[in-house]
Parts: sequence; structure tokens; C-alpha cells
Amino acid sequence: MMRSEMEQDILKVLITEEELKTRITELGNQLYDRFQGRNPLFLGVLKGSFMFMTDLVRACQLKSDIEFIAVSSYQNATVSSGCVQITHDLQQDITGRDVIIVEDILDSGTTLAFLKEYFLTKGAASITIVTLLDKPSRRTKAISADFAGFTVPDEFVVGYGLDYAQRYRNIPYIGVLKPEVYAGT
Ligand code: IMP
Ligand code: MG
Repeated sequence: MMRSEMEQDILKVLITEEELKTRITELGNQLYDRFQGRNPLFLGVLKGSFMFMTDLVRACQLKSDIEFIAVSSYQNATVSSGCVQITHDLQQDITGRDVIIVEDILDSGTTLAFLKEYFLTKGAASITIVTLLDKPSRRTKAISADFAGFTVPDEFVVGYGLDYAQRYRNIPYIGVLKPEVYAGT
């Protein structure tokens, strides 16, 4: 059993490491079939997607390249502030590229609606949205994922890249945080 200082803050495991691995292999194969013979750009949304991104690009052996953008909308709360800020911008020209946005979770849709528009204004030829988790019950923007790993209920989840106040990203599975951990925010 792996030792963990964070286990006590987790109410329950929602998606195990094995389930993540199996599903990401499937997603990799689906993306391979969709983009074979093209040269897509996997564009990870930091920080939450960092673990998913590394596993997804390994599961999808295309001739592709990778890029990252960092955004922030949460300011240590469990509900989005509704205002997306780019904290680290693209480092390359994406004109004419088939962009595969890799996101940790699609919640209200604010972040992805903003990013999709932003990448189109930067000249992307196409946008494909891949999200590990989809929380459709909280959507306020008309946006959906082209590929989603798992649909999750309306609970605040952490692990496998997802944080609460920058913590718990290194938990290897997806878990639900005990509400008392973020009570008062
Ligand atoms: P949206 O803009 O409301 O769709 O939120 C998207 C971003 O909020 C994601 O990229 C996550 O970083 C964060 N987020 C949304 N729900 C959760 C959650 O349950 N746990 C951790 N982060 C979340
Ligand atoms: Mg995110």
C-alpha cells in the first residue's frame, strides 16, 4: 500500500488508477483513428491536465506535438470565479493547426468556451476538445466535449492533476474531497 499524507482528506475514491489507465488507452486509440495521417497539436490546459496530458500522448502514438497554456479561474475556491485569466500564454504559432485541447474537467464550461474562442482567433484550423472528466450538471455555457473520459456527479473531485487550493494533484486516482476540508471557502 502506498503511503499518503492526503488519504485522510478523501471521502471516497471515484475513479481508480486502473480505471483511468484503461479509459485513457481507449481515448488514445480513438484519437489515433481520428487524426491518423495528420499532425495535430495536443494543447494541455495547465495545471490540472498535466497528468492526463502525459498519459494521453503516450497512449496515442501519432506524429503530433505538444503545447501548453495556463489559465486560472478558481482563486482557491471550489466554484469558478467565472473570469478566465491566461497566466502562461502559447509559445508557438497555432495558425492552421488541428488543435486537440486536453482538459482535466469540463464543469461550467467557462474555461473551454473561452479557450476555444481564443484558439480560433489565433488561427487554429480545427478544435477538438478532450476532457478527462465531464460534470454536465453544472454547465452554464453551450459547450460539450468531443471526447470525455468519465461523467462525474456534482461533487468536488481531486487527484490525478485536479487540485483544491493547489493541493492533492499528486493523488494517483480521482477522489471526492471531504467537505470539511474546504468548509468556509
Ligand atoms: P469551468 O470553467 O467551470 O468549466 O471549470 C473548469 C476548470 O475548473 C477545470 O479546468 C478545473 O481546473 C476546475 N474544476 C472544475 N471542477 C473541479 C473539481 O471538481 N475539482 C477540481 N477542479 C475543478
Ligand atoms: Mg483545468
